[in-house]
Amino acid sequence: MNKRNKEKVYEAYEEIVDWFDGARTKTLMESEYLDLIVKSVPANGSVLDLGCGTGEPIAQFFIDKGFKITGVDGSKKMIELCKKRFPAEQWIVSDMREINIQKRFDVILAWHSFFHLDQDSQRKMFKIFETHIKPGGILAFTSGEEEGEVWSDNGGQQLYHASLSANEYQSLLKAMSFKVLVHKVCDPKCGEATVWVAQKT
Ligand SMILES: C[S@@+](CC[C@H](N)C(=O)[O-])C[C@H]1O[C@@H](n2cnc3c(N)ncnc32)[C@H](O)[C@@H]1O
Repeated sequence: MNKRNKEKVYEAYEEIVDWFDGARTKTLMESEYLDLIVKSVPANGSVLDLGCGTGEPIAQFFIDKGFKITGVDGSKKMIELCKKRFPAEQWIVSDMREINIQKRFDVILAWHSFFHLDQDSQRKMFKIFETHIKPGGILAFTSGEEEGEVWSDNGGQQLYHASLSANEYQSLLKAMSFKVLVHKVCDPKCGEATVWVAQKT
């Protein structure tokens, strides 16, 4: 458990891409949220998938529905896999905290990735969400169930996770003119994920 891993969790993912690809549930237990997102934005829209991992199953879900994906991940190996699987989409190796894509998207996802940022980085990400979303666009991310920091073993790597309080997420979203559509804590149908879906007003 060292500082490098806390600041750049994606470096640890470089070591466990194959493990993650095998272990990550691909059965679309997220479908309730993904269906809501699709219903809330225009057809054939654009998705910015931050911390996209292997592209399966979430980017694939949107590609199958006719959306165009821009996937961003700090792990080169994750992005190589996405390029191989979905060569028609745009894939970028970058820390999500450093993106400046000069384009606005219908959907921004930070699914099971945003929670790898430390608390201050998470606060700053709301400005990045705001500058990359279209009016009426949807932001969806997962967080911890309560404020704090946690380390956990994933495929033999100790990975850092952090969360702000629900109240602080509500305030940050409001400050960037996002209206909360869903805040579900520890959804048993979705692997106990704590899910936020918000719409830019
Ligand atoms: C648990 S995986 C989730 C992948 C995908 N979103 C999913 O739901 O299957 C977390 C991903 O976030 C990426 N990641 C972690 N910190 C990141 C950062 N600061 N910038 C970009 N990607 C990051 C990791 O490399 C990893 O691919």
